[in-house]
Amino acid sequence: MGIHDAVSRRAAVESVLLDSRTIQRRVCELGAQITRDYAGKFPHLVATLKGASIFLADLVRSIELDLSFDFITVTSYGDATESSGQLRIMKDLDETLELRHVLLVEDIVDTGLTLSYLLRTLGARRPTSLKTVALLNKPSRRKVHVPLDYVGFNIPDFFVVGYGLDYAQRYRNLPDICILRTAAGS
Ligand code: IMP
Repeated sequence: MGIHDAVSRRAAVESVLLDSRTIQRRVCELGAQITRDYAGKFPHLVATLKGASIFLADLVRSIELDLSFDFITVTSYGDATESSGQLRIMKDLDETLELRHVLLVEDIVDTGLTLSYLLRTLGARRPTSLKTVALLNKPSRRKVHVPLDYVGFNIPDFFVVGYGLDYAQRYRNLPDICILRTAAGS
């Protein structure tokens, strides 16, 4: 990679909100807590694509239990940065949830509409239990109440990218979680 690519990537982000070491430390804490809470069980983690993929990859490696995981893709009909509440499943799960201890893994909970839709839809598939883990939570933006069982970080109302989170499909591979310059404070 040329130096210019690195410079222009850095220029797009305003500042680092959470650096990779801080993220790793918190993900390990969440993994340890989940390990304790699900001791003796065989949890099934369901992560939303694409945003939660990197979080899931780190989280499962910090959970010291036998587990399985699956992916689901939900899209909204709204604009790029905010879900409209009109949601549908674009890519469904491969596995059934019946009789499973399901842990829904989200990258970020903003209005709460996506998670609320997923809890309704997946809850109807008769899992034994259904809990949620979100790496990031923006409580000030909430439109609907959603139960969050595990939260990595509560953050202010910034549009953030990196560690799986995108803006127009870019920046997912940044190791830190950064505030996007053009959309900061949106
Ligand atoms: P919600 O339905 O409003 O809670 O939004 C959840 C989805 O919106 C997330 O899974 C992200 O795809 C997207 N989103 C919300 N806030 C951000 C952000 O700050 N950066 C990147 N994506 C975001």
